[in-house]
Amino acid sequence: MAWGDRVVIVTGGANGIGLACARGFARKGAKIVIADIDQSAGLEAQEEIASNGGTVLFVQCDVGERLDIHNLIAATLEEFGRIDVLVNNAGVVGGGNFLDLEESDFDRVLKINLKGAFLTAQSVARQMVSQIEQEGRVSDSGRTYSIINISSIEAVVGTPDHVPYAVSKGALNQLTKVMALALAPHGIHVNAIGPGNINTDILKARGSDTKGRKKILSRTPLGRIGDPEEIGSIAVFLASPEASYVTGQTIYADGGRLALNLLVEDEKD
Ligand SMILES: NC(=O)c1ccc[n+]([C@@H]2O[C@H](COP(=O)([O-])OP(=O)(O)OC[C@H]3O[C@@H](n4cnc5c(N)ncnc54)[C@H](O)[C@@H]3O)[C@@H](O)[C@H]2O)c1
Repeated sequence: MAWGDRVVIVTGGANGIGLACARGFARKGAKIVIADIDQSAGLEAQEEIASNGGTVLFVQCDVGERLDIHNLIAATLEEFGRIDVLVNNAGVVGGGNFLDLEESDFDRVLKINLKGAFLTAQSVARQMVSQIEQEGRVSDSGRTYSIINISSIEAVVGTPDHVPYAVSKGALNQLTKVMALALAPHGIHVNAIGPGNINTDILKARGSDTKGRKKILSRTPLGRIGDPEEIGSIAVFLASPEASYVTGQTIYADGGRLALNLLVEDEKD
């Protein structure tokens, strides 16, 4: 199926990595649905993509709320009639000292980062399966259906004050594998991307002052913070025929961070 016939939903698509994914798919010619809780940024993103010739719809949506997801699917089908790709990107950082962590903080992060991804993926997958039943399964080389979860390197390495965040991303990796198995018989591919430090608002919230930056770079062999577009391009690849035999995987784009044992400076000694 040509990109121009494909409909892509990006949750948290109003800013940062999600917006870079939306731009990447729009450049291919796909129809884009930006789903985000932030209405003003969402409308701005919609305007930007449309003014660059893209076909785009913004839907205000909290991915932690089942009714919002129901409305997102309904609005997408009303506007574009189908769904081919989902990028489950909406996410928040949360945490604090483990001993002081409130139950409400834990629940809030898990509700958005994990339950939101599950609820959105389940609703979208049901729609994809119904399309496959109507249209017949496409051969893997002409793949159409793809779900991409935006995870993190924190799925596999931890920071003591990021308990709910790291737990949500670890579980998201496992959700990716289980969904890939459950949806493989239908020909739906499910993969994840695990970014390292990428230049977005989330990074600012975690401290990207000089000291914070130095700390990050001391653990980043490529010697720089990543650009959101460097994650968007992987999402486009995973949804393309070039990735037709890839499912159940997490691709880490982290400037070499997970491969590093000691600090970058230690390696130079
Ligand atoms: N920036 C990084 O360094 C980094 C590293 C690893 C993983 N990630 C992951 O990438 C994803 C995107 O993060 P980002 O860095 O672009 O952050 P960002 O804050 O720039 O963007 C997050 C977007 O999600 C939206 N959002 C938040 N809660 C929502 C909800 N309940 N429903 C719908 N939308 C909601 C926000 O409005 C925002 O537009 C997140 O899942 C994050 O965990 C980011």
